[in-house]
Amino acid sequence: MGSKPDERVPLILDCDPGHDDAVAILLAAADPAAELLAVTAVAGNQTVDKTSYNARRVLTLAGRKDVPVAAGFAGPLVGELATAEEVHGSTGLDGADLPEPALELDSRHGVDLIIETVLGASRPVVLVPTAPLTNVAVALRKEPRLKGRIARIVWMGGAAGEGNVTPAAEFNAFVDPEAAAMVFSAGIPLTMVGLDVTHQALLEEVDIAWIRALGAPVGTAVADLLDFYRGFHRRRYAFSGFPLHDACAVAEALRPGLVRTLPMAVEVETAGRWTRGRTVCDRWGVWEREPNVQVGVSIDRAAFMAYLRQILARYRRA
Ligand code: BDR
Ligand code: CA
Repeated sequence: MGSKPDERVPLILDCDPGHDDAVAILLAAADPAAELLAVTAVAGNQTVDKTSYNARRVLTLAGRKDVPVAAGFAGPLVGELATAEEVHGSTGLDGADLPEPALELDSRHGVDLIIETVLGASRPVVLVPTAPLTNVAVALRKEPRLKGRIARIVWMGGAAGEGNVTPAAEFNAFVDPEAAAMVFSAGIPLTMVGLDVTHQALLEEVDIAWIRALGAPVGTAVADLLDFYRGFHRRRYAFSGFPLHDACAVAEALRPGLVRTLPMAVEVETAGRWTRGRTVCDRWGVWEREPNVQVGVSIDRAAFMAYLRQILARYRRA
């Protein structure tokens, strides 16, 4: 009798923790539907030394020191790095008392960890970048064989509608538009979980309360992180609540269909004076071109919240 096939989703997270990245890592680390193969960090919300340190702190919190973590690029392909200190603080994960890493940084560059992990996997991998696409773009360029070995990319980034870091552009797209343009034209199935989606799945104060009630260490740490992160959103936005952007991408990767998508031709603006980093989505097919992206247009918020509860509950204090 043969052994049962492994039905878990083989997953690589490429991230820049970041409060919402931290929750994304905690979900991928605890969901039995995921086989978390590697975590790579890139510069974005903070510098790459901070984001790679943070990724290891969060995996330590999750009790997953078995997951390799490598640091990737320290800045975008073109120009200077823009960070999001006003959202995530000077450490990138302000607000909580997180453990020191119990795992060393992998000695490989993040790009090489992505390449070797994908090529070494027994089945096609799902790549979930929740950050600027620098690492992913370079990995695809450096190793063309990745194309046949990545089942799907589920990226948190972009927006068909309004931006957040500029009126036109979402942060992850804005930080490295050249990299995003490379990934969008790579011919790999790509789902864009952008602001149009993540702003439909806002958390409220009551959600911080049930997360805190899960107890130390994870419930307490996440609630402390979200208390800090919520502050920025209260100051910036007229709506109440706050989006957990990156958690939405992990949720879609592990519960496909949670995000409703439409196929569209999408281009990333790399030049515009006011629009650099805009993801220009051809909703009505006026370009008459083959769609290259499944653009997220809505999310089942109730199902997302149920997913968050279900997986975070696995960290409940015994
Ligand atoms: C994205 O930008 C970052 O600040 C968040 O971590 C998320 O990936 C939202 O625009
Ligand atoms: Ca992020």
